[in-house]
Amino acid sequence: MSVPTADPAVETRGLVKRFGDNTAVDGVDLSISRGGIYGVLGPNGAGKTTVIRMLATLLRPDGGEARVLGHDVFAEPATIREKIALTGQFASLDEDLTGIENLVLLGRLLGFPGRTARRRGHELLEAFGLAEAAGRQVKKYSGGMRRRLDIAGSLLVTPELIFLDEPTTGIDPRSRNQVWDIIRTLVGAGTTVLLTTQYLEEADQLADRLAVIDHGRVIAEGTPGQLKAQVGSGALTVRVVEPADREQAAELLARTIEAEVTREPDPTALTARLNERSRAAAALSALEEAHIDVETFALGQPSLDEVFLALTGHRAEHEGEEEGAAADETDGGPDDQAEATIR
Ligand SMILES: Nc1ncnc2c1ncn2[C@@H]1O[C@H](COP(=O)(O)OP(=O)(O)O)[C@@H](O)[C@H]1O
Ligand SMILES: [Mg+2]
Repeated sequence: MSVPTADPAVETRGLVKRFGDNTAVDGVDLSISRGGIYGVLGPNGAGKTTVIRMLATLLRPDGGEARVLGHDVFAEPATIREKIALTGQFASLDEDLTGIENLVLLGRLLGFPGRTARRRGHELLEAFGLAEAAGRQVKKYSGGMRRRLDIAGSLLVTPELIFLDEPTTGIDPRSRNQVWDIIRTLVGAGTTVLLTTQYLEEADQLADRLAVIDHGRVIAEGTPGQLKAQVGSGALTVRVVEPADREQAAELLARTIEAEVTREPDPTALTARLNERSRAAAALSALEEAHIDVETFALGQPSLDEVFLALTGHRAEHEGEEEGAAADETDGGPDDQAEATIR
């Protein structure tokens, strides 16, 4: 009789990786339970990929301990590799082959008979909205299609744990939403997902818990709601109808909701940093009472930049990366007021 295991999906203690003088991962402790989506959020160069590569046993840690699905990365790398899947920021597809040919090739490499590989390949293309593109060469795919095909390729065998390294960086919003749906489906099928991202919005939409990392260290850990609650509740963007009214609006907001107000380059626009989301209603009624006509009034969540600024006192370095995803309006859950752990 086999003993039921309650091993966490991932457990690390003091994980370290150096590249020459550069300590890319500087003592990372993670405890990720099975099921659900765990996010690792951090700017470019924070050490996210290096952590993933150590957990996937592609890179040997220089210090610390790590267990993946109960197995030691030093002692049992082969066992770990059998149970996990990894997709990278840069897809590992053959550009000259078609979508289905790529999946059949991967299936054959996994030891499937040709017919089984083909059947499974078509099922996955169907599931990922790529059926029509099955016979098209991958070099003619869009970035979003490639990303989906890459994830499909890692699902020929349902893994217990999948590492998705920046699955949506650099793809358009529509493909991003499709990838998000795929990720949610994976969890439904019982796979644990470890996702890295540069986007707070992505972590917020997908992750049950997340670790924020910067310069190879975990600087905060908790639910997305807990982390957002630490940085205030985001920004209120107001556009007045008459530019002449903006100054009065700015002073009013600063006074009534004690927000830090920024005047935007657009002469009708201003942004107020809110300490609490509930202050937004007070802000709107203050403007109404002062008879200031408002064109738009939008409440956005804090950006990754704001999270970083709040947690570290410095801005995230973007190293020429594209801007973070647009701040959509999202509602804070009931856990927003709880404390996240700051390290
Ligand atoms: N193979 C490597 N050789 C040398 N330096 C590396 C290598 N991989 C990553 N680094 C460095 O380690 C740090 C963390 O990189 P990485 O894990 O790729 O960050 P992220 O995935 O968060 O963008 C960076 O300073 C990067 O330049
Ligand atoms: Mg990376």
